[in-house]
Amino acid sequence: MMNKKLFLLLCLAVNFVYAQKKKPFFWGVATAAYQVDGNYQVDGKGESKWDLLTNKVGITQFTIGEKQTGNVAINMYDRTQYLKDIELMKELGINAYRMSLDWSRIIPDGVGTVNEKALAHYDQLFDDLLAAGIEPLVTIYHFDYPAVLLQKGGWGNPEMENWYYNYASVVINHFGKKIKHFITFNEPYIEFFLVENMLNAQNNKLPEKEYYMSQMQKAHRQLIANARVIKLYHDLKLKGQIGIVLNVNPAAPWDEKKVTDQKTAEFQDVLINGLFLEPLYKGKYPKMALDSLAKYNPTFKPSTEEMAFIGANKPDFLGINFYAPAIVKGEDSAMSLKWLDNNPDEVKSNVGPVRPEYLYKMLMRLKNDYGNPQVIITENGTGFVSEDVKVNGKVNDPLRTDYIKRHVEWALKAKKEGVNLFGYTVWSGWDNFEWVSGYTKRLGLIYVDFATQERTPKQSFYEYQKIIKENKGL
Ligand code: FCB
Repeated sequence: MMNKKLFLLLCLAVNFVYAQKKKPFFWGVATAAYQVDGNYQVDGKGESKWDLLTNKVGITQFTIGEKQTGNVAINMYDRTQYLKDIELMKELGINAYRMSLDWSRIIPDGVGTVNEKALAHYDQLFDDLLAAGIEPLVTIYHFDYPAVLLQKGGWGNPEMENWYYNYASVVINHFGKKIKHFITFNEPYIEFFLVENMLNAQNNKLPEKEYYMSQMQKAHRQLIANARVIKLYHDLKLKGQIGIVLNVNPAAPWDEKKVTDQKTAEFQDVLINGLFLEPLYKGKYPKMALDSLAKYNPTFKPSTEEMAFIGANKPDFLGINFYAPAIVKGEDSAMSLKWLDNNPDEVKSNVGPVRPEYLYKMLMRLKNDYGNPQVIITENGTGFVSEDVKVNGKVNDPLRTDYIKRHVEWALKAKKEGVNLFGYTVWSGWDNFEWVSGYTKRLGLIYVDFATQERTPKQSFYEYQKIIKENKGL
């Protein structure tokens, strides 16, 4: 008979192996390179699309009436600064940090020589994070890319797929052992159908629906690039996972009893959510979208092989960014951005109507309609103009605090009901450069004085800290 000691030792060993294997639930915060890094000409960084848009085009002049850039942002490229921010992350108690790499730092001219200084910077940052017990969740591409490639048409150029593949290969080959979670792309819908639509509004000559649907070719190209890079990652047999991040905005009718509102909501839902979920998980575009594409963009003809390739190279996990549902009116076209104006809430958040139950609904949909994939909430957060002010050294943000609490509750309810949810990261850890809104929209758990770079944790920071403590063993 096995003696008692040996038996105990064996149990301990089994427990140890199990603990090593069991992935912890990730509690984290999220950022993206252009919004936080600053240092826009340091260590051989090339000019990026957003450097160009903000500095040369002066894009925020058209949206907020003032020229603002990410040249300084919140200075997070600077190690002295980010080490202080890691201390704040530790105080918050997170075990994951979603961040993005800057293509224009790694390959400044888009396709040629790799900038070793940039690789060294990221290696150091990852080591610093890992030493603090924080797992980096790395977005390879978050809206931004070298400006020279934009000048060649960006995703409008068929070559972009190869340029991205080349860049992603450099990243995966270099960091593939250290990094266990890669994300190929962030929110293709927002990149092509929302932001580009907003930015091109003045210039495009096409009628609204034609222009809207013309963007599909770019989104399709990005989905193929996504599949190619997932395949590459899997072929390399690395011991981690690779996924993609989609914004999810479940659509709902403005008036539940109105048939026209219901109909537009159904189509809106297809155009925002189904357009990406269906190809990724079922290898096809939704019929409703294809019918409209045939009418408004008849040149768009995805081949059977392309669709099969997308469907065959599924992400290991899906990151979802959830802020709000899309509330839709029947008289508006779903091939537009009209839904962004529909917010019946009395106190309006800067990211849309506050409806945490829709996060739950979407998570259940992923479970029931898409084969229950592994899911992580890669962005969720909000801001209200009224409450992001510093008074006597403090920032009280009860509305954001309540928003986060309720969204976590609904997310955990879905997890209890069998959704394969493995993490939640708040957008954002820090107030930062909010694209076309510049510094006018604050979404952080930590208040940033943009002139001095001083950080002040907000009330929501402490609430989130409490949530993490209470849910440690999840
Ligand atoms: C998302 C973006 C992110 C941030 C939030 C508020 O669409 O992915 O970079 O701007 O919105």
